[in-house]
Amino acid sequence: MLIDSFKRPIDTLRLSLTDRCDFRCVYCMAERMCFEPREQVLSLEEMERLCGVFLRLGVRKIRLTGGEPLMRRNAMRLIRVLGQWVNEGLLTEVTLTTNGTQLAKVAADLAEAGIRRVNVSLDTLDAERFAMLTRGGSLPQVLDGIAAARAAGLRLRINCVVMRDVTSASADQLVKWCGSQGFDLCFIEMMPMGQDSTVHADAFMPVSELRLALNKRWSLIEIPYRTTGPATYLAVAETGGRIAFISPQGHGFCHECNRIRLSCTGMLYPCLGRELSHDLRTPLRQGATDAELDRLVFAGIAQKPAHHAFSAGRSHALPLRTMSVTGG
Ligand code: 5AD
Ligand code: SF4
Repeated sequence: MLIDSFKRPIDTLRLSLTDRCDFRCVYCMAERMCFEPREQVLSLEEMERLCGVFLRLGVRKIRLTGGEPLMRRNAMRLIRVLGQWVNEGLLTEVTLTTNGTQLAKVAADLAEAGIRRVNVSLDTLDAERFAMLTRGGSLPQVLDGIAAARAAGLRLRINCVVMRDVTSASADQLVKWCGSQGFDLCFIEMMPMGQDSTVHADAFMPVSELRLALNKRWSLIEIPYRTTGPATYLAVAETGGRIAFISPQGHGFCHECNRIRLSCTGMLYPCLGRELSHDLRTPLRQGATDAELDRLVFAGIAQKPAHHAFSAGRSHALPLRTMSVTGG
C-alpha cells in the first residue's frame, strides 16, 4: 500500500486523458485557451504504462478526467484496458468525470468496458444559462447523454460548481430533478484555479451558505453514506435522493486525502491545490525501467503536502494552471 509522509493511504489516481474540451466553462477555462502541444501529451500506451506503475504501487481506483476525457481520440482503448483490470480484480473501480457531450455515443461501450459510475458536470437545467456558462454548450445534448448513461445502467452523480447567482436560481430545480432521476447531486465550491479568476472572485459563494438556503426549503438529513472522495452526503426527505457538498475552503478533508493526479502531459501532481509537480514524461521517454518509474512516483508521493493552498490567509502560492490541466 502507498502511504504518504502524513500517513495517508493513497489508493486513488486521477488521470487526465486530455486538456482539451468542447466547452469553455467560465470557472475552468479562458475563452481562448492555449492547450498543450500535442507532442507533450502522453500517448495512450504511455498512459497505460504509468497506470501500471501506480497499480503496482498500490493504487486501486482510477478516475479519468480532463479537460473532457471522452474528447481524447480512442479513449475507449485505454478505458477497456483499465476495465479489464477491474474485471481481473486488480482495480476496484474505474470511473469518469465528464461533461456528458459524448455520452450518448459511448455510454453503452463504457458500461460494457466495466465502468459502473460516471460523474457528469451540470450546473443548471436552464438551457440559456447553461450555454452562457459553458460558452456555447448545448444542454439538450448533455441531457441526451445523461439519459443514455442511465439507460446503459451506469450510476450517475451530477457535479454542480456553486456560483452565487446561477446556483441560487438553479439549485432547487437540480435537487428535484436529480431526486426524480435517482442521481446523487454534488455541490462543489468554486476553486480559484488559473489566472482568469475574476469569475472566481465575483461569483464565489461558500457551499455553507448554499446549504443553509437549501435547508430552509428541503428537509436535509445527515446520513452516514460516504464515497471515497471528500463529499459529505445528506438525504433529501422530499425526493428520497442524496445531495453532497464539497468545500475545499478550509482544510476539512485534506487529512483524509487519498489521491494523486497525473496530467495528460505526464506530470504527477500530489495536490490539486498546489503548484508542486514531478515530471514523469521525460524519464518515461528516456527509457526508464519499471523500477526507476516506481521510485520516481514514490518520491513524488512522499512530497504530497499536508494541505492545499486555497483558503484565505494562505502562506503558499495558488496554482496558476487552470482546472483543465489536472482535472477536477
Ligand atoms: N472550481 C471547482 N470545480 C471546478 N471544476 C472545474 N473548474 C472548477 C473550479 N474552478 C469542476 C467541473 C467538473 C470537475 C472536473 O471540476 O465542473 O465537475
Ligand atoms: Fe470542459 Fe469540464 Fe472545464 Fe467545463 S469544467 S471547460 S466541461 S473540462
